Amino acid sequence: MMKRNTWNNKEVVLGVTGSIAAYKACELASRMTELGAKVLPVLTRSAAELVGPSTFEAITGQRAITALFDSLQNPDVEHIAVASRASLFLIAPATANILAKAANGLADDWLSTTLLATRAPILFAPAMNTNMYTHPATQANLNTLRARGCHFVGPEAGRLACRTVGPGRLIDPPIILDMASLLLDERNDLAGKRVLITSGATREALDPVRYLSNRSSGKMGYALAIEAMARGAQVTVITGPAEKAPPHGAERVDVETAEDMDEAVAQRFSEADIFVAAAAVADYRPAYAPSEKRKRTGQTLQLDLVENPDVLGRACGQRKQGQILVGFAAETGDLEEMGREKLRKKPVDLLVVNRVGPGQCGFGADSLDALLLDGSASVTDLGHAGKETVAQAVFDRVVQTLQRAVAPVDHI
Ligand code: PMT
Repeated sequence: MMKRNTWNNKEVVLGVTGSIAAYKACELASRMTELGAKVLPVLTRSAAELVGPSTFEAITGQRAITALFDSLQNPDVEHIAVASRASLFLIAPATANILAKAANGLADDWLSTTLLATRAPILFAPAMNTNMYTHPATQANLNTLRARGCHFVGPEAGRLACRTVGPGRLIDPPIILDMASLLLDERNDLAGKRVLITSGATREALDPVRYLSNRSSGKMGYALAIEAMARGAQVTVITGPAEKAPPHGAERVDVETAEDMDEAVAQRFSEADIFVAAAAVADYRPAYAPSEKRKRTGQTLQLDLVENPDVLGRACGQRKQGQILVGFAAETGDLEEMGREKLRKKPVDLLVVNRVGPGQCGFGADSLDALLLDGSASVTDLGHAGKETVAQAVFDRVVQTLQRAVAPVDHI
C-alpha cells in the first residue's frame, strides 16, 4: 500500500521574510519540491539580504520573486494570477512586520499584496525576538489573523539569535510541513468526527525516582493523529511520556500512569466517535511505591505487582456506546494467531497486530510489520509499512465502516 502524497502537483507560495531563521526556509523549499509541489519562493527585501534568491531558485527550479514589479516581466508570476492559482501560502519564517501588514491589509510589496488577494489557506510560522512576539500589538495581530481563518504553527520557546531565551524560535521544519500538508489535504471523510487516541508509554513508579515503563516513542500515535486531522476530524491525544509529542492542532492530554490514562479516557470517551488505542500501557504496576528512594540492601529485591486497568478492555465493555474501536497489539509470536486471540478478549472493530522484539521494527521505529484484523476475521497483511501508511490504512477502514453504517439498505 502506498502512502498518498498530498503535495503532488500543488502550487505553494513560500513567503520568506527577514528573520535570521530565513535559512531554514531552504529546507522547507527543498522538501516540498522533493514531495512534488511547485514551490514559488517569494523573498521580502530583508529576507533577500539574509539568504540569496539564487539559493531558492536552485532548490525549487522556479524564479524567486523579490520585488513587486518583477512580475510584470513574467506573467506567470503576476501576483493576482498566483493568488488565485496557489493551493497554499506558507510564510516561514514570518516576522512581526509581515503579521502586522497582513492583519492591517497593507499591500506594499509582492508578498503582502498577494496575501490580500488570495483566498487560499495561509499558514504562518512566526519567528522573532520574544519581546516582539509577546508585545500586545503582535498578539492583537495574531488574534485578528486567527479570527480571519489564517493558520499558525509555532513559534517554540528556546534560545534565539539575539541571545535571549523565550518564545519566538521558528518551529522545526518537519512540523511546519506536517501542518502545511494538513491544509493541502482535500479529503474530508472524517469531518465532524471526534477521534480519541492513546499514545506513548506509561510509567509506573517504583519509588520517587524510578519507574517501570517501555520503549514506546509516540510515533504511531502521532501518525494516527495527523492522518485523522488531515481527513477533517477533531483529534484528542492522551499521551503518556513519549519522545514524539502529539501534532499541533490536536488537543493534547498528558498522563503518566495507566490509571491516569484510564481516567483521562473515561472523561472523554462518551464524546468520541472513534477510539484508537495505540499506547503501550503497562499491564502491571508496583503494589507499593515508597515515598523515599529505595536503598540497596545487599538482598534480592522482590516486587509485588498488581494489575492495571485495561483501558481498551473497558472501552470494549461497559463504556462502549457505538464508538468505532481500534486496538493495537504488539506481539513477538505468530501475528495472526496472536491477533485472533486478542480479538476474542477485546472485540474491537479493527486490530493492528504488529511484530516487536529484538531487531524488529515497532517500538521507536518509523515503520511496523503489521496485519489488520477485523471483527469478521478478515486479515490484511500490510507488510513492512511506514507508520503513516499504517495510519492511512486504519482510517481507510474506519471510513468504510462509517459509510457502511449510513448506507441505505436495499429492499428486494
Ligand atoms: O509508540 P511507538 O514507538 O510508535 O510504537 C508503537 C507501538 C509498538 C507501541 C504500537 O504500534 C502498539 O503496538 N501499541 C500497543 C502496544 C501494546 O501494549 O500492546 P498490548 O498487546 O499489550 O495491548 C493491546 C491493546 O490494549 C493496545 O491497544 C493497548 O493500547 C491496549 N491496552 C493494553 C493494556 C492496558 N492496560 N490497557 C490498554 O488499553
